[in-house]
Amino acid sequence: MDEVPDLGDALPLTATGPAWLAVALDDLSSVHADHLHCERKAAQSALSLIRAYPERADLVDAMARLAHDETRHVVQVAHLLTRRGQPASYDHGDDYAARLRAHIRGREPDRLLDRLLVFAIIEGRSAERLGLLAGALDDPRTRELYASLTAAEIRHRDTFLSLARDAAPKTWRARAAELAALEAAGLSE
Ligand SMILES: [Fe+2]
Ligand SMILES: [Fe+2]
Repeated sequence: MDEVPDLGDALPLTATGPAWLAVALDDLSSVHADHLHCERKAAQSALSLIRAYPERADLVDAMARLAHDETRHVVQVAHLLTRRGQPASYDHGDDYAARLRAHIRGREPDRLLDRLLVFAIIEGRSAERLGLLAGALDDPRTRELYASLTAAEIRHRDTFLSLARDAAPKTWRARAAELAALEAAGLSE
């Protein structure tokens, strides 16, 4: 799996509106508590791809490493909650991811391509929003944590995009653009 610079250009995500950051900053406890589950789900999604596609050695290697990163992020966010004296909460579900997953086609090889691209979008969107938070937080340690998560999620987005490119060299770009447009439509609902 070669790394390709500017792979993210294939996934033009719309910018998050300013209202999102204001709402997030107003209830940081919920943001941090939800984020623990975002990281946990990212690890589980990576492992679920290993379960579904064990014959793809590149994918197994990349997803095992990615799940490792994500579980490390769970530890980091759990430490953040402890530092804040904040208990972790149960997962309240995620309409955003559910709406995106609804676009995953059922039949292979389309299914693999769509799963990889949906995960790339989730990583890209989460990188964007973690970056917005990192730029706005007062506490330097929390800011540093979110900045480091931002960098990691951009790498993850690119990991998914290179796997998508390898899985469907002829069609991945067009499908990435399609799914990015569907994501934008879902955000404005
Ligand atoms: Fe992560
Ligand atoms: Fe990630």
